[in-house]
Amino acid sequence: GPGAAAAASEAAGTDPTTPAEQDARRKDDHVRLAVAQHAEPGPSDFDHVRPMNHPLAAGDRSQVSLRTTGRVLDWTVPLYINGMTGGTAHTATINRALALAARETGVPIGSGSTGILHREPAAIPSFRVLRDLNPDGFVLANVNANLTPAQARRSVEILGADALQVHVNPAQEIVMPEGDRDFTRWADNIAAIVDGAGVPVVVKEVGAGMSRGTVERLRDLGVAAVDVSGRGGTDFTAIESARRTDGGMDYLASWGQSAVEGLLDASSVDGVDLLASGGVRNPLDVVRALALGATAVGVAGGFLRTLLTDGEAALVARIESWLTQVGDIMTLLGARTVTDLRRVDLLVTGPVREFCELRGVD
Ligand code: FNR
Repeated sequence: GPGAAAAASEAAGTDPTTPAEQDARRKDDHVRLAVAQHAEPGPSDFDHVRPMNHPLAAGDRSQVSLRTTGRVLDWTVPLYINGMTGGTAHTATINRALALAARETGVPIGSGSTGILHREPAAIPSFRVLRDLNPDGFVLANVNANLTPAQARRSVEILGADALQVHVNPAQEIVMPEGDRDFTRWADNIAAIVDGAGVPVVVKEVGAGMSRGTVERLRDLGVAAVDVSGRGGTDFTAIESARRTDGGMDYLASWGQSAVEGLLDASSVDGVDLLASGGVRNPLDVVRALALGATAVGVAGGFLRTLLTDGEAALVARIESWLTQVGDIMTLLGARTVTDLRRVDLLVTGPVREFCELRGVD
């Protein structure tokens, strides 16, 4: 019947109406499919990073500080809600709840890609809530790497953002029928955005990871921080495949490197702060990423699932307990500060050790 035809056209991402409505549909699809991916956290590269237990080296919980200071970023907590959404009625409701959770817990928060607001001014309030409901929080506006510096700056201004996230997601784009096919201008455009943004720029993947060479190149382009957002959590090649009726490129699932691999690979790169995200399951994963050199750790899909299945109060409680437990684990490891965590003894095992051998990481 007509319902099935509409559903097929929706799944195929074919033009049911206008490009703006297509955009909106994609954003709602991303939320639905990402939440489904976060039903059960599975095994992870984080399991192959094992902090050693030294019973007499444990510290005093009252002396532990969660404050984290990079070259540019200076946050009271080493955890943030990563960029996700905005642009539709449903995602405006989500952003409202995320903004309140950020305000209650003090974690920095990123927006979803704001490209849509340059085409659809009606989308502006769905992003602005991140600032309006969270006036004293640290807010990152998010853009794709094709926007002009003027557009990027306008996104920052509209959100009253403290920093700008630029996402680089070629694997996701390749699986999207309507996605980009020419990525050769991204690097030059990122340099232009860095010059024009007016705030520090964070470049991030969306769950496929980054190499040492990419991080070095981004540093040379002037970015302040790189989020090596790796595989193992939200998988956008799988999400975009699920949005197609032809199966898409579902064999690309788990393309790329994990956050653990990204941090290890880039550990020798100076002059840029590393952030980590992608499949962070619990406070121990946060501590592992910090011990591997991350200045802070981002969570997206897992927190979105908590919000949409258990509600806003549950999300606030979850973030608060994560922050408490990150401090508890720091106490266990004898780390008073996030920087102290970098001196913790880590055993790197299994496939992650093999990755290190292949990449010459010591
Ligand atoms: C995302 N992510 C994302 N990233 C980005 O830079 N711009 C965006 O618009 C979006 N949109 C988006 C929507 C939804 C529903 C999710 C769950 C995620 C990617 C996100 O910031 C992060 O890099 C990955 O999701 C990996 O982290 P998790 O989800 O495994 O914790």
